[in-house]
Amino acid sequence: MNLSRRSLLKSAAALAVFPTPARSAPLTLTAREGAQLIAPPGFPETAIWGFDGQVPGSPIHLRQGERVQRRLVNELPKATSVHWHGIRIDNAMDGVPGLTQDAVPGGATFDYDFIVPDAGTYWYHAHNKSVEQVARGLYGPLIVHESEAPDVEQDLVLMLDDWRLDPETAQITQDFDNGHDLSHAGRLGNLITVNGAFDPSFPVQQNQRLRLRLVNAANARVFTVGLDGMTGWIVALDGMPLAEPIPIEDTFPLAPAQRADLLVDVLAANAETASLFSQERDGAFGLARFSVAGQAASTPRSGVRPLPPNPLPELTDLNNVPRHEMRLQGGAMRWLESARIGETELSGRELAQLGRFWALNGYAERPDDPFLDAPLGSVHRIAFVNETVFPHAMHLHGHHFRLILPDGTLGPWRDTVLVERGETREIALVTDNPGNWLLHCHMLGHAASGMMSWYRVT
Ligand code: C2O
Ligand code: CU
Repeated sequence: MNLSRRSLLKSAAALAVFPTPARSAPLTLTAREGAQLIAPPGFPETAIWGFDGQVPGSPIHLRQGERVQRRLVNELPKATSVHWHGIRIDNAMDGVPGLTQDAVPGGATFDYDFIVPDAGTYWYHAHNKSVEQVARGLYGPLIVHESEAPDVEQDLVLMLDDWRLDPETAQITQDFDNGHDLSHAGRLGNLITVNGAFDPSFPVQQNQRLRLRLVNAANARVFTVGLDGMTGWIVALDGMPLAEPIPIEDTFPLAPAQRADLLVDVLAANAETASLFSQERDGAFGLARFSVAGQAASTPRSGVRPLPPNPLPELTDLNNVPRHEMRLQGGAMRWLESARIGETELSGRELAQLGRFWALNGYAERPDDPFLDAPLGSVHRIAFVNETVFPHAMHLHGHHFRLILPDGTLGPWRDTVLVERGETREIALVTDNPGNWLLHCHMLGHAASGMMSWYRVT
């Protein structure tokens, strides 16, 4: 009796010396300045803004259905926020200043806490003054793993970016509100990187199968992606598995914010180099190299299976579905004659003085009333009618949608659709996620200069 009382006291004393923490410290994501070699070797490091001081920011990996908890700590001189691009998220966690939260001032914090319903390749990025903050490097990968992942030797995240650096100093040029960029194709850069590095090289073996998770984090550049010395399939777009993988026979476009998951087999032989390239106007531009050392098998694997599907809503029948038109207007060569900011109609000249060159259905700023006011669980078609002479990457927050193909059948699920000049692209969505959701062009200069709208689901 005495003995056990004694040991109880002892353990109580031990508890006092080593108290169990009431709660573990929150995981943080710190937006801060950093410096990194982005330009080719021989150049100085570039001053960037990054999550945890690096670009891309700290990778977040988790399993489908798990919870993300991150305390944003803002150590920047400017207010910021985090948007979790492509996550069908709780509206309060969507990271949009003025719509779902206040921007987080320097020195302050904000706690993000949400569940990831879908497996796939997503990303996070700053959503305040994005045209500047994403260009400075505030983005990172958010990878949600399937419970049954495909069989591959390597799973690589490749975040593509396009920087505009001063060619002498390798520092980011600060002309984020340059009217020419805003009114044309956006801020196109002069240095393309993968994972924040120029022309990186990855070690591989012949006949290895790789999963390449491509993310276009660029401000405005549409990459035209191709493979050399490798062959394979697109198995997911914007995070969502394709019911039937698409064999990669040619190049394919990857617009700002879009993702593509590839399963590829390395065909290049020992000591050769395979590559991922972008077909630019003036020739093929190498994005990343895959240096082959050795052989993993005597032949490549054969065939591919689709990734396990995500729990997306049922969307098969488009009969009697309301169709809403969103006209994309303005920009160079189609200058706005007038457009509204709030209820005020302004002339094209007045708008240009405010740095507004584009409009969505006649509004050169996110209007007070939503473009679409949808009851929870309703089905809608949206037609993006591009009346401009530039391509636009139209993105919906909060929902994925299905493309409606030219023959009227339903195409892949996406969260960002590239609408080429003069083209009309239709999408269909089931509004199963309540809240106020942005809808905007992901060419970030276009979003900043008028291409911003929203829809409401209640
Ligand atoms: Cu990547 Cu408003 O989004
Ligand atoms: Cu645009």
